[in-house]
Amino acid sequence: MRRRAGKMRHLGLSNLNVRELNEARRIAPIVSVQNEYNLQNRAADDVLAACEKACLVFIPWFPLGAGRALRSAKVKRFAARRGVTPAQVALAWLLARSPVMLPIPGTSSIAHLEENASAALLRLTPEDLAALG
Ligand SMILES: NC(=O)c1ccc[n+]([C@@H]2O[C@H](COP(=O)([O-])OP(=O)(O)OC[C@H]3O[C@@H](n4cnc5c(N)ncnc54)[C@H](OP(=O)(O)O)[C@@H]3O)[C@@H](O)[C@H]2O)c1
Repeated sequence: MRRRAGKMRHLGLSNLNVRELNEARRIAPIVSVQNEYNLQNRAADDVLAACEKACLVFIPWFPLGAGRALRSAKVKRFAARRGVTPAQVALAWLLARSPVMLPIPGTSSIAHLEENASAALLRLTPEDLAALG
């Protein structure tokens, strides 16, 4: 209704499973899905795959696991070896994970904002991705 009235251009949904996504897509065109997803919580892998198949943007909320993904010993070791920060590894991993991935990290700090933005320049190889599990 609001879309037809020109009050909203695109529809995005949050926190849904594949069945709900398919059901919603039968009702209206959906452009994006926002579910929790990060290095430590990949429960939405099937939703991500469905988004890839349908060319929908997947927005992982808690891309840094609300800070928890940065405390992983594996991520810390990997970051130290590459001379980057754990946050950059967590974000680069997301970007490498799928072409439809659009991470939205939150921060209250300009330094973290700059650090997080430059994660887009960090390229992870297939070997890196395997090392991160
Ligand atoms: N759709 C939903 O149901 C839903 C649910 C939850 C969240 N969200 C959305 O998801 C987005 C992200 O959520 P979020 O901000 O809670 O989680 P997040 O991005 O996973 O983590 C943010 C936390 O990580 C820290 N952080 C950020 N950059 C860092 C860095 N470079 N180094 C170290 N720590 C860093 C922040 O602390 P500093 O402030 O110190 O940087 C903050 O404590 C938000 O837009 C939120 O609205 C959506």
